[in-house]
Amino acid sequence: MSKEMNRREFMKASAATGAVLMTGGLSPAFAQELKPIQLLAPQLDGGRPLMQALKDRRSTRWYSKKEIPLQVLSTLLWAAVGVNRPHIGLRTAPQRLSSGGIDIYVATADGVFFYEAKENVLNPVVAEDVRNFSGQQYPPPGMYGGPVGEAPVNLIYVWDGLKNPRYSDELNLCLAFSLTGFISQNAYLYCASEGLVTVVRNWFAKPALEKKMKLRPEQYATLVQSVGYP
Ligand SMILES: Cc1cc2nc3c(=O)[nH]c(=O)nc-3n(C[C@H](O)[C@H](O)[C@H](O)COP(=O)(O)O)c2cc1C
Repeated sequence: MSKEMNRREFMKASAATGAVLMTGGLSPAFAQELKPIQLLAPQLDGGRPLMQALKDRRSTRWYSKKEIPLQVLSTLLWAAVGVNRPHIGLRTAPQRLSSGGIDIYVATADGVFFYEAKENVLNPVVAEDVRNFSGQQYPPPGMYGGPVGEAPVNLIYVWDGLKNPRYSDELNLCLAFSLTGFISQNAYLYCASEGLVTVVRNWFAKPALEKKMKLRPEQYATLVQSVGYP
């Protein structure tokens, strides 16, 4: 099937569903206007076994230019915090039911999207490449890694409850960071299982990034996790 055919089919599918259905990576070809991206069902077979993934889990700060296919991105997000029990809406990572959880924003070359786990869709937030705001490497580029903007995908973990009057500041931050930890470790393990490379960072341009993402005052970016191929 030719590339032109693929694009025509893509346009047809978008018009029919109101969503962008992609078969490849998150290509800049479609960057001009951001539309919702319908994610695929997670791929539940394949990948390396859990014990092998635990053995291989590590942080890596070098990324190739290879894009992440939609199937892989869909499965990564599902592994991180997708709905694994649809009848009760619960997730692959534990959640504190009375306080809500961590949201994942996905930053790509095209812009920033919000992962709507229940609908399995990425909703557009801002059509700007913010990846260079989403972290600094320590040690700096050249020693252990390249510029952070090179990773095709940055997952930005956001707590949406900072100003909740029912919680002390201490409890609020404790919830935010513990819930982030569960999710980012799920993502680490999926990456190890699938041959992807990843690193989390809490050293990022937080105020600048939060502004670019148009976060509300109750929202708080806890960690950024870059994902790509070696
Ligand atoms: C909460 C947290 C914050 C981190 N922040 C950064 C960071 O800002 N920049 C960075 O390059 N690495 C960061 N890292 C990655 C650590 O440097 C890395 O996990 C550590 O070197 C251990 O390596 P490993 O993940 O391969 O076991 C962070 C890790 C954690 C757990």
